[in-house]
Amino acid sequence: MSLQDTIPNNVDLNHDRRLKKALESWQPKFIEWWKEMGPEGFQEKDIYLRTAVSVDKDGWADYKQVKMPDYRWGIFLTPEEGNRKVGFGDMIDVDTFDEVPGEFRNALRRLIVTQGDTEPGSVEQQRLLGQCAPSLYDMRNLFQVNVEEGRHLWAMVYLLHRFFGKDGRDEADDMLERRSGNADKPRILEAFNQPIDDWLSFYCFTMFVDRDGKFQLATLAESGFSPLRRSCRFMLTEEAHHLFVGDRGISRVVKRSAELTRESGGDPYSLGGIPLNIVQKYINYWVTYAMDLFGGEISSNAADFFAAGLKGRYNEQRKYKDHSGNEGEFEIPVVQGGKLMPRAVPIRNAMNELLREEYIADSRSAIRRWNKIIAEEGVDFELSLPHKRFHRHQGEYAGHFFNNEGELCTEEEHAVLTEALLPTEADRALVKSLMVQVTEPGQMANWISPPAKGINGMPLDYEYVKL
Ligand SMILES: [Fe+2]
Ligand SMILES: [Fe+2]
Repeated sequence: MSLQDTIPNNVDLNHDRRLKKALESWQPKFIEWWKEMGPEGFQEKDIYLRTAVSVDKDGWADYKQVKMPDYRWGIFLTPEEGNRKVGFGDMIDVDTFDEVPGEFRNALRRLIVTQGDTEPGSVEQQRLLGQCAPSLYDMRNLFQVNVEEGRHLWAMVYLLHRFFGKDGRDEADDMLERRSGNADKPRILEAFNQPIDDWLSFYCFTMFVDRDGKFQLATLAESGFSPLRRSCRFMLTEEAHHLFVGDRGISRVVKRSAELTRESGGDPYSLGGIPLNIVQKYINYWVTYAMDLFGGEISSNAADFFAAGLKGRYNEQRKYKDHSGNEGEFEIPVVQGGKLMPRAVPIRNAMNELLREEYIADSRSAIRRWNKIIAEEGVDFELSLPHKRFHRHQGEYAGHFFNNEGELCTEEEHAVLTEALLPTEADRALVKSLMVQVTEPGQMANWISPPAKGINGMPLDYEYVKL
C-alpha cells in the first residue's frame, strides 16, 4: 500500500514506470474536470469525508475534514484470495487470468468504458445540489458520494491504462470529455444524461440507479479476469454507502410526507411536504431508466461474457449449483405480430433479465419497508414499483407501448399514462419550490425527517460541512 504517492495505490505503481507516468499525466486532467464539473460552490470548503486508506474489511477508511480537490483519489484492489479458479461458464476450474483474453479485448474494453462513464456522469448530474441541500448532514453525504464516484472512475481508468494500451489511454481521456446531458457529447447511458436538480431525484437516483451499479459490480466481482474482479469488489464496499443514502433518503421523505398528509388531512404540500403520489412518480421515472441499464432481455453478448468467465450471475457461487449456465431455459415475453408471446430463452442468453429480476426483488423489499412507514402514520397510500415493461427505452420492449400492468397499449393510451405516472413539469416545480438550503448544524428542511443518527458516530448536529 503506497498511500503517500502522488496516486495512492496498492497496485505497485512504483514498479511500472510507464503506467505510473501515464496515470500521472491523466491526473491533472481529472482534477481540472473535477473543478469544472464537480460540486459547484463548495470546492474550498472543509468537509467531513472518508477516504480509502486500506483494503481491510474493517477499518478501510479514514474520516477527516478535507477540501474536495485535495481528496486522495487512489487505486485500490481487494487482495487476491488464495488460488482462484474461474467459477462459471466454459472455463470452470481454469486458473483466473491476469491479462485480457485476446478475443474479448474489445468487448471487455466496452464494458469497462461503459461502467467508467457512469461515474463522472453522476457527478455532473449532481453538481448543483449542494446549493439546496436540506441539511449539512445530507450535503456531506452528497459530496461523499461524489468523491467516491470520482474514485470509481479512477478504478476503471487504471484498468484501461494498464491493459488496453493506447486505446485505453484514449478512452480514459474521452471520459473527461463527455458531459452529462450534452447534445453533442453526452454520457453513454441515458440514465446518466437525465437532470438531477432536486433532492427527491437525488435520493431516487442513489437508491435505484446506484443500485443497478451494485448489481453490475456484483456480477463483475465474480469475474475470471482478476484485476476487474478485485477492482469491483472494492468499489462495492464504497457503493454500499451510496445505496444507504438513497434508501434512507427516500425513507425520510416518505415519513415526513406521511406525517404532513395526516396533519393536513390530505394536502401535505399545504404544510410544506411532498405529496406521496409525486414520490411515486419520481420512483417510476428513475426505476424505468434504471431497468434500461441492465441491457437487452435476450442477449448473445451476455451469453458470451458468461461463457468466457468474465461476467457471472448475481451471487453465482452462493446461489447456484450448476455454474455452466447450460441447464434450463428462462421464459421471456416478446412482442410478435402485435402480441406479447412467451419465448423460452437459453439461460446464458437471459443473463441480463435474470439480473434485472434480482434488482426488482431487492427494490421491492425497500418498497415494503417504506409502505410500513406510511401505514404507521395511519395514511392510506401504498408505493409500488413500476412494471418492468413500462416506459422503457432499451431492450426488447423499447419502441412498443406498455401500460403499468405490462400489457401492450396504444400510443395514445401510453401518453395519458405518462402524464399520470411520471413527473410533470408542475410536479417538478412543486418539488423544486420546497428545496431550500439549510445550513444550521442539526437542522433539517421541513419536507424531510431527520436521519436516525449522524455519520461515523458523530452527533447529528456536528458541522459536517464548514461553510
Ligand atoms: Fe460508482
Ligand atoms: Fe455509486
